[in-house]
Amino acid sequence: MKINFSTAANHLGSSAVREILKLTQGKDIISLAGGLPGEELFPMQAVRDAYSRALSADTSALQYGLTEGYAPLREQIAARLTKQGIPVSASEMILTTGSQQAIDLLCKILLDPGDAVLVEAPTYLAALQVLGSYRADIHIVQSDGHGMLPDHLEEQLRQQRPKLLYAVPTFNNPSGATWSKERREKTVELCRRYNVLILEDNPYGEITFDESPGAYPPTLAEIDRSSSSEPCVVYTGTFSKIVAPALRTGWIAGPAELIKVITKAKQAADLHSSAIDQRALSELLGFFDIEGHIREISRQYYSRMKLLSAELSFRSWNGTRFHEPRGGMFLWLTLSEQINTTKLLPFAVEQGVAFVPGEVFFSAQPLTNTMRLNFTHTPPELVPLAVQRLEKALAQYEQSELSFLH
Ligand SMILES: Cc1ncc(COP(=O)(O)O)c(C=O)c1O
Repeated sequence: MKINFSTAANHLGSSAVREILKLTQGKDIISLAGGLPGEELFPMQAVRDAYSRALSADTSALQYGLTEGYAPLREQIAARLTKQGIPVSASEMILTTGSQQAIDLLCKILLDPGDAVLVEAPTYLAALQVLGSYRADIHIVQSDGHGMLPDHLEEQLRQQRPKLLYAVPTFNNPSGATWSKERREKTVELCRRYNVLILEDNPYGEITFDESPGAYPPTLAEIDRSSSSEPCVVYTGTFSKIVAPALRTGWIAGPAELIKVITKAKQAADLHSSAIDQRALSELLGFFDIEGHIREISRQYYSRMKLLSAELSFRSWNGTRFHEPRGGMFLWLTLSEQINTTKLLPFAVEQGVAFVPGEVFFSAQPLTNTMRLNFTHTPPELVPLAVQRLEKALAQYEQSELSFLH
């Protein structure tokens, strides 16, 4: 039978890269591709204890729960956010199935087909997929390593009349870049002036490599809330990177009026996120030193990033450059302009290493000589081998391109 998919489904897009990366599963391949935390750093015993406590509390742990999420956990997250300079009450926040669902629900309640949305380039692939599924008209704002360029942002705000600006201003996925304080302030100021909501997606912000006080700029949400009583920044975060992604627990904070409508959309989508996972997290936050855990994984990830950076710096691959990220999970590599990393990928997989070609992170005009490397998941002892394999793949790719030219 021929299935007539909806226009929205037809806009979900498929990915040749995903198909290639699927081939890497179960093989002797070192993957720098996925956005995965290091498994050996999961707080296993604490999570076991948390579930055990949640289940021994009372039978309601297995019952349906509130769409907004488990109230004590919302209070705990609200308190953490307030400490981080983003004062929110529980009514200004809802728990979601990962921050991925937060992005989806916000787009669902805001966007009609054809509505303009501003993004960075490159940006988070799965956010582009969500925007595509709602048939948003995606426009890029030019940026440098410090954030969106204010003049171009203003031009796009004026010309495109967007409904939303989506950004990952801290330890960006995929670029690892962090916006400066000045650019953050300017972005908030301009979006407020043009009455445009900002979705600040901040899954990596707590994975920091510099422990000195004041090392990092404030979040857009903090800037927004400290300068106006009518916030224009909607903020999403997650436990995926700081505890474990399998718990699928994220949150979205914004004006109460907006959260109310998101709650209705969530009810229609899945009634509520897993009540037992939320209870376990609430227990975890009660007895486990989460701040100490975040400091520890940040230290480990920092040394893994330095290792990858050193391995890459040893090589003299013509025209290759990168900046060390100041936190997060990704290093963005730009190779010489002749190299197309999507074409390089099969050679890399053949050699036993995987990465994500940079072009998938662009909604238009991709930089095809880029790649995203994850440094948090691969055990440190395998990193030198991974880079050696990448080097061999590059040599083979260049040879085959040359023979193709002759
Ligand atoms: C920028 C960004 N936003 C959101 C997410 C979604 O994370 P989760 O749904 O696990 O909270 C990710 C996951 O990698 C991400 O990189």
